[in-house]
Amino acid sequence: MTTSTAPVTTTGDPVLEATGVIMRFGGLTAVNNVDLTVNSGEIVGLIGPNGAGKTTFFNCLTGLYVPTEGTVKYKGTVLPPKPHLVTQAGIARTFQNIRLFANMTVLENVLVGRHSRTKEGLLSAVLRGPKYKRAEAESREKAMGLLEFAGLADKADHLARNLPYGEQRKLEIARALASEPGLLLLDEPTAGMNPQETRAAEELVFAIRDRGIAILVIEHDMRFIFNLCDRTAVLVQGQKIVEGDRETVQSDERVITAYLGAPLEGTAEAPAAADADADAIADAPADLPAEAAADPVEEADAEPAAEASTASATSTTGTEDEK
Ligand SMILES: Nc1ncnc2c1ncn2[C@@H]1O[C@H](COP(=O)(O)OP(=O)(O)OP(=O)(O)O)[C@@H](O)[C@H]1O
Ligand SMILES: [Mg+2]
Repeated sequence: MTTSTAPVTTTGDPVLEATGVIMRFGGLTAVNNVDLTVNSGEIVGLIGPNGAGKTTFFNCLTGLYVPTEGTVKYKGTVLPPKPHLVTQAGIARTFQNIRLFANMTVLENVLVGRHSRTKEGLLSAVLRGPKYKRAEAESREKAMGLLEFAGLADKADHLARNLPYGEQRKLEIARALASEPGLLLLDEPTAGMNPQETRAAEELVFAIRDRGIAILVIEHDMRFIFNLCDRTAVLVQGQKIVEGDRETVQSDERVITAYLGAPLEGTAEAPAAADADADAIADAPADLPAEAAADPVEEADAEPAAEASTASATSTTGTEDEK
């Protein structure tokens, strides 16, 4: 299969450079030789039918999986495939299945996200000296600032599990931002949101970009993708089949075919397809009013708020098997 790449306006230096990334699970090649670059100032979309390998690719970028082959560079330096080192380097992410500390408050969840940026050691924390107290006050101030930014400041003392679903997604973004990233990876940030929440999420993503943070976003909601992204890459059965601006993606026959479920060249099996996605690929108008931007596919993917994950306090980036 050939990959066509339209000329794209690049906005700055590469922040992320993934080269030849392959992820195999036994006989299944979930990510097949994918190259992808995100430049500073960009919002880049990653789309593809269910099971295309999008989340697996994110897991390779963030050290949750060690890619079978390929390299991932952040600002020119090859990243070791360890989640905490990736976070420390400057890449933060949210998860397709929300992972919050359900029994902690909203503010505490954001404070946990800051831990990769705080220097105070265990001894200092136990002794609670003036230096520790100063650092703690500063962290709280920054965390409150992020809650303000995400529109959650008035919920700071609420338990995370009591937030409505859309606000849990926003809280995950605020927590990711707490690690002061240069690149934010969002895995289906509007899944389960209503049209108004989706519209607000778009504005939040633009505001994050305006803070100088590059963004790579996976979504099934094509209107959201085409409203937001400078550039979009399409994964099908682990391969990047096209990358470019909205017109390039929408006019590519292979994209439509992939979403409609026809077999790809040289393969016997049709990709899992979502008809609603296929319609949206072809029809999605830019800057759609919020009321029209609903994506029925997302309703099916939504999880109830009560199912917010209770990830362990030492692993906010989760375990290998999870999305
Ligand atoms: N840990 C794993 N072990 C074995 N197979 C896996 C593992 N993780 C993912 N896969 C497989 O890799 C393929 C790609 O899955 P992935 O979750 O990356 O798709 P996706 O594009 O994110 O799909 P969706 O849009 O439904 O979220 C699927 O066939 C999936 O079953
Ligand atoms: Mg996924």
